[in-house]
Amino acid sequence: YPLPVGPPPLYPDFYTIPPKDILPGYKFPSDFLFGWATAAQQWEGAVKADGKGPTIWDWASRFPGFIADNTTSDVGDLGYYLYKEDIARLAAVGGNVYSFTLFWTRIYPWALANTPLNQAGVDHYRDVIDYAWSQGVEPVVTLFHWDTPLAAQLAYGGFASERIVDDFVNYAETVFKAYNGSVHKWVTFNEPVMAAPVNSTLPPGLNSTVYPYTCSYNLVLAHAKTVHRFRELNIQGEIAFKSDNFLGVPWRSDNTTDQEATERHAQYQIGIFAEPIYNTGDWPELIKNDLSPEILPRFNQSQIDYIRGTADFFAIDGYRDGYVTAPPNGIDACRTNISDPNWPVCNVKEWTSSLTFLSFFDSTPFGWGIGDFADPKVPWLQNTWQFVRPFLADLVKRYPTKGGIYLSEFGFAEPYENEKQFIYQVTEDAGRTAYYMSYLGEVLKGIVDDGIPIKGTFAWSLVDNFEWNSGFSTRFGTQYVDYNSPTLARTFKRSILSMGQFWNAHRCDTDSGN
Ligand code: NOJ
Repeated sequence: YPLPVGPPPLYPDFYTIPPKDILPGYKFPSDFLFGWATAAQQWEGAVKADGKGPTIWDWASRFPGFIADNTTSDVGDLGYYLYKEDIARLAAVGGNVYSFTLFWTRIYPWALANTPLNQAGVDHYRDVIDYAWSQGVEPVVTLFHWDTPLAAQLAYGGFASERIVDDFVNYAETVFKAYNGSVHKWVTFNEPVMAAPVNSTLPPGLNSTVYPYTCSYNLVLAHAKTVHRFRELNIQGEIAFKSDNFLGVPWRSDNTTDQEATERHAQYQIGIFAEPIYNTGDWPELIKNDLSPEILPRFNQSQIDYIRGTADFFAIDGYRDGYVTAPPNGIDACRTNISDPNWPVCNVKEWTSSLTFLSFFDSTPFGWGIGDFADPKVPWLQNTWQFVRPFLADLVKRYPTKGGIYLSEFGFAEPYENEKQFIYQVTEDAGRTAYYMSYLGEVLKGIVDDGIPIKGTFAWSLVDNFEWNSGFSTRFGTQYVDYNSPTLARTFKRSILSMGQFWNAHRCDTDSGN
């Protein structure tokens, strides 16, 4: 597909790291949460320790080829054992929040109703939460980050069955009660638009056009019921789910077809979950017009009333933005894919991109816009960070909440990091540092200049970790992990140190730097 000629580069010095005091006089609000994130399946390892049950990833990663480098997350970063070190390092650079996720199968190894609770799992996360507070770090807890219990997958197809709803709510209720008062911000689901197709691909889910949408339907119901239980039980704090990734920018801003394609992308990527939960209780109109009830199950009126308003804040995993344009043969051409039996819907990239938009971001090592940010071959995308303020402003306009908006993940996989020969080439991560410094500058301007209610930033990730199907071949860490060392030694990269300096210069309880 030929690349159109893009706008000229707006920020040519993309490897120039802005100085830490780029915004003299600008301060974050006093309650701002500045920190880093990890997820259980990617960081904990110890997947068989202390009674934990298997997840779909523990299982599927054993099939050759499922993970690019044929690794598993069995060991990961050993965060299960090294959490104190990792939290202390986060606190040492100034962070005041740690966003992490619970393995459902540490709490309920076999997930299904009437199977036993694993007290060792409950106790473990209690230690993590208490240790975080002891370091002056607030723990933000996510209940589900794609680690569906294998038992639920094999028994009834995981999220492809409505049976998952009550099993999930049972698990959620247990942890709400266990940590009530010690956790102030809860997240039900991480990036459902990514989770639903994956969950539907794995056996005994069927590789069909329908299952991603069945999973989405069950996921929305599980979310809504969890939040209702949270409120009925009077659990302290706030709860929401995490959306991803970007709303999109029309490739040709004055072209109505590109504008329409962008809106379609936004609805399939974010609106599909955000619209019911934050606004109407129901699927976006645009998607209902596309998909028959046989493909996308409909909610009835009492479900609609039940789903609407089940979130207290908005959380976005906002890594990047992207230009969107219609396919060459018109916007309707992609819709016909729905009835094409060969269309690989269970791949979310296909699910969103072939249905709704065409992205120009496929030329990089990791295949994302953020990769292009560091790729001199794609000069007009070097200004990726400039999307931050309009993007966040648009989100809070579309999905208003009392609790404001969190950047619940944002991050950068430095291209070619694994091919570097010397450790200093890895730890001097200029691309990632430029990304974060530019991004954080925009966040601060968004708060101070534009009044966007941004409440916190949780960078992905605290350390290198298991990047799903890419295994350990892609590193998102702001700290390097030496996987050949017996202690899995961590080393700060330039990015985390610069972020810490930026935060310390602009946090409102210090006046250092400014
Ligand atoms: C968002 C996901 O939540 C996380 O698990 C993943 O590692 C990052 N994106 C980077 O791909």
